[in-house]
Amino acid sequence: MPDRPATSARPPLRRVLVTGGCGFIGSNLVRYLRTQRPGCHVVNLDALTYSGNPENLADLAGDTGYTFVHGDIRDRALVERLLERCDAVIHAAAETHVDRAIMDSRPFMETNVLGTQTMLDAALHARERGAFAGVFLHVSTDEVYGSLPADRPDLRFTETSPLHPNNPYAASKASSDLLVATCRNTFGLETRVARASNNFGPYQFPEKIIPLFVTNLVQGLKVPLYGDGLHVRDWLHVDDTCEAILAILERGRAGETYNIGGHNERSNLELTRSILAILGKGGEMIRHVADRPGHDRRYATDTAKIERELGWRPTRSAWPAALERTVRWYIDNPGWWQRIRAGAYRDYYRRQYGETV
Ligand code: DAU
Repeated sequence: MPDRPATSARPPLRRVLVTGGCGFIGSNLVRYLRTQRPGCHVVNLDALTYSGNPENLADLAGDTGYTFVHGDIRDRALVERLLERCDAVIHAAAETHVDRAIMDSRPFMETNVLGTQTMLDAALHARERGAFAGVFLHVSTDEVYGSLPADRPDLRFTETSPLHPNNPYAASKASSDLLVATCRNTFGLETRVARASNNFGPYQFPEKIIPLFVTNLVQGLKVPLYGDGLHVRDWLHVDDTCEAILAILERGRAGETYNIGGHNERSNLELTRSILAILGKGGEMIRHVADRPGHDRRYATDTAKIERELGWRPTRSAWPAALERTVRWYIDNPGWWQRIRAGAYRDYYRRQYGETV
């Protein structure tokens, strides 16, 4: 289908189901929806696995426009019931951490592949009995495209680039994207897919590089930089992601995929040096460790489609201000991450990095 500007806006959202709303992107998204669309009731379905944290939405306690449901996306009857009267579902629940997928890929297949398949089945069944006629928006990742060379800044993935996942996490996300696409093709479900680059911001689980490095440094620990540190990621503030997701939901075209990126490519070494500088620490705090197996060199997407069709551009991702604000959030909220780092996280850290936090 040729690209063309979106013409018809949908009626205002009244009720939306968000899956994984206690995770990092999910919780920021729930809060964003409540703020930007106060007339829209948000139902949050979250299984509260290791990274789902009800504290992320503690500020919504008492909000009558928000409902939390503790449950599993693989419970089709539950999902079907929750979809009733919803205008849309934003499917953000996922296992997301590449290093954990390398340790054990099974939960990634169970949640990301079977979970998405169950969500789609539930949407189809609810539609069949007239209980759901809305949009199914799937939150995905630029990792599905695979890796680009770091010395070819001219190259970027577009929405039509072939899928080439290089690790079990990326394979599980590519599989879920394909399930969504086939559900649209075979059954005519009104789907959309958002493929985001590396997100950063508040409430990110401290297994990802930015919160991991900041919290280590605040605790006086060194930061484990993989390989030569010259891998490149495109950093996108989570508020920009939330804005893009809402634009895709409200004004995007049915069946389409949209890349979301920050126009903010940095090598891990540059990122690490920036964090060290913000915290007033020196290069001796870097611990060079063995590279991640199958480590993708560079992610970069072409975001012309969402910019042209929906007028979206990242406005909150620019460095150094956005990075400084994020680092400041972790400094100002030590209770949030100290509670996480005191629990099962310690076992993960020991297993992944061979030392204790
Ligand atoms: O591109 C989008 C993806 O970004 C999301 O789909 C994933 O869910 C998300 O985890 C993220 O994947 P990455 O693997 O790029 O994120 P991570 O924070 O794990 O790593 C970022 C870079 O930093 C990567 O090149 C590996 C490196 N790194 C990471 C960790 C955790 C280190 O050098 N040391 C570390 O300890």
